[in-house]
Amino acid sequence: MARPGVLVTCRIPTSVVERLEAACDVEVFAGPDAMPPGELKARLEGKQALLCLLTDRITADVLDAGRDLRIVANIAVGFDNIDLDAARARGVVVSNTPDVLTQATADLTWGLILAATRRIPEGERLLRRGGWSGWALDFLLGSDLRDKQLGIVGLGRIGAAVASRAAAFGMRVAYATLDEAAAGPSAADPAWARLGLDELLSSSDVVSLHVPLTPSTRHLIDRRAILRMKRRAYLINTSRGPVVDEEALAWALRERLLAGAALDVFEEEPRVHPGLLELENVVLAPHLGSATVETRTAMADLAARNVLAVLSGGPPLTPVRA
Ligand code: DGY
Repeated sequence: MARPGVLVTCRIPTSVVERLEAACDVEVFAGPDAMPPGELKARLEGKQALLCLLTDRITADVLDAGRDLRIVANIAVGFDNIDLDAARARGVVVSNTPDVLTQATADLTWGLILAATRRIPEGERLLRRGGWSGWALDFLLGSDLRDKQLGIVGLGRIGAAVASRAAAFGMRVAYATLDEAAAGPSAADPAWARLGLDELLSSSDVVSLHVPLTPSTRHLIDRRAILRMKRRAYLINTSRGPVVDEEALAWALRERLLAGAALDVFEEEPRVHPGLLELENVVLAPHLGSATVETRTAMADLAARNVLAVLSGGPPLTPVRA
């Protein structure tokens, strides 16, 4: 019997390629950038499975090019790059990689909270350009976290993992939930206060976003939402760029209506709004949430196991249910 064909749109660890090769013929696109859509469609011909990234747009058109496809395995927990309705209509299963990246993303979120509130990148830039003339009592003062409120928007797995680290910094936690089914399961600690979004925005000192990108979360943080926040508050986004209206955020930071922000995700990656690039009070990271060797390997491996499960006739381990 012919072995199933698998297309992988990026380089993945050798151990994961070997896992797939034990049962399938594997074709890996090894280009330095995202696979061009035309090439993706051409190479999908005759393939039963696709392992792809959040930078690959899996549209109805792409799915039509892969007439034999049985599974699209996204190497990401987010899946807003995939037309789920089109996949469902064509009988193609979609899977993602939850859980394995939760801790790495929560750690990165705290890195950004500390970087913004303690002005670490701003200080480093100043030092490197020779602008440090020595220790001074009032030099580059940031903001304490102790006894402040961390407001988590979206208490899915990652939101809950971020919240669970707050006690180590002496912060109290408040959370607001919007679309629990899409965010995934989580367990709220009884010490955390559940608030409505507006109340969370107006009472928190650090607001951290952990919602998936859906029509209802696009520009959830717009001018109106930002104006609800304290002027001494910080906004952190490690979810999806379009959840924040970057134009509105750049305006608020420029006008000092917020103390600062830290973003790991952007509306039109890899482009960053020029208004943000010129500001000192925003930390900008290039989508590093899950970027550790261990986590990225685990993500690729889980995607491969999803493919193997479906190709052998079973359900995927981590299906997207939306
Ligand atoms: C995801 O998995 O959705 C992240 O954005 C990348 O790790």
